[in-house]
Amino acid sequence: MAAKNSKAKDTQAKYTVPGLEIEDGHRVAEILQMRLHALNDLQLTLKHAHWNVVGPNFIGVHEMLDPQIDEVRAAVDVIAERIATLGVSPGGTPGALVAERTWDDYSLGRADTIEHIAALDQVYDGVIADHRNAIEETGKLDPITEDILTGQTGDLEQFQWFLRSFLTNAAGELSTAGATTEKSAAKQGAAKKS
Ligand SMILES: [Fe+2]
Repeated sequence: MAAKNSKAKDTQAKYTVPGLEIEDGHRVAEILQMRLHALNDLQLTLKHAHWNVVGPNFIGVHEMLDPQIDEVRAAVDVIAERIATLGVSPGGTPGALVAERTWDDYSLGRADTIEHIAALDQVYDGVIADHRNAIEETGKLDPITEDILTGQTGDLEQFQWFLRSFLTNAAGELSTAGATTEKSAAKQGAAKKS
């Protein structure tokens, strides 16, 4: 934490947006920095899955992922520019992402479409839950940022629904229910299919 604070001094401007205390503006930017890492990580992970899916449903899943990647990349840009607007330098380098993230790298390589879908559902679980927490935290300080995150969360939830449609049976049950890791979700999803 100490290292992060000393770095923060170099990255923070002497201003924030009008009507916000400077500390509050910079605190909101700090919350957004982790959302920037999460969405940057997500767009790379989705592309990785796009390249690594195999199996009979290849083309449908391969092609479904690209529009999600485009939208997530657009969301990354909005978050980064909001951080800059608030008077803080956004950190967009891969090294910073890896050093500061609190989650593990995506764990699947070449795998069946349903395994990637199940694992990506887990990835979305984490990103969406953290986005909701950020909505709550930023909402106390800055409704403009809260609004940005709220819109993005709706989109992320819709993308997750696309994935979940592959995992849901007619009774509305998720084949991956109860799974807590990408690998266990992948295994459960694949087992249910066969
Ligand atoms: Fe491609």
